[in-house]
Amino acid sequence: MIVLDSGLGGISVVRALRHAQPALPITYVADTAGFPYGERSAQAITARAHALVQLLLNRYPASPIVLACNTLSTLCLEPLRAAFDVPFVGTVPAVKTAAQQSISRRFTLLATPNTATSSYSRELIAQFASSCVVDTYGAPHLAHMAEAMMLGDTVSDDALLSELAPAFIDDARGKTDSIVLGCTHYPLIREALMRVAPWPITWIDSGSAIAKRALSLTDIPLTPAGAYVTANADVERYRNVFVREGFETVAAITLS
Ligand code: DGL
Repeated sequence: MIVLDSGLGGISVVRALRHAQPALPITYVADTAGFPYGERSAQAITARAHALVQLLLNRYPASPIVLACNTLSTLCLEPLRAAFDVPFVGTVPAVKTAAQQSISRRFTLLATPNTATSSYSRELIAQFASSCVVDTYGAPHLAHMAEAMMLGDTVSDDALLSELAPAFIDDARGKTDSIVLGCTHYPLIREALMRVAPWPITWIDSGSAIAKRALSLTDIPLTPAGAYVTANADVERYRNVFVREGFETVAAITLS
């Protein structure tokens, strides 16, 4: 199974996959040379995704690809499905779940700026959450902060709160009672987010739903367990994290 993200965010999906099926070999690809996707143009991300998927399918033909990245999925899922004849599992923000569970009937989709403003997210909200007030907030630096924290850097609570605070609203239209974590990086720092949150809310992510969908695919050709980064210089920087997450090999893969 190939799992693809711009960086370490897809680890939240890997954990859900492993929780459901501990022995599944996972080939993880972090496009660290392209990180962060949340601030790049749709054309640039689509071009990178095409090149990367082509490269991976040259090595591991017919393997399904889990796009463990909301930004990649909202911008590229359809073009990738049209271009390549393998199953793609996309990551969809859990708007439907939030709409089913919200008591106050007001929740926020917290995501990268690209995902928050995408027509995909707009349509998802119109289709599944018309009975709620839904606020969308594109946090400019939160994925970056989560990546840094995974790599062992310290990010101050004040910095985290400045990214999070706009997602909490209490006004005449109601009070936010849930946040959809619409970026796979965010569940990785859920505890830190809970600590700085202005008030207690329900945090909702898509990890287990993606894992369930991916594992429902049958006849999956096995790919080797290992992690790749696309920037040579990142191999050593990322090694500790991948080893901690159970990957034995970490190597660079070069996009031409
Ligand atoms: N993990 C990615 C997502 O789910 C985004 C991080 C980035 O900005 O590259 O949207």
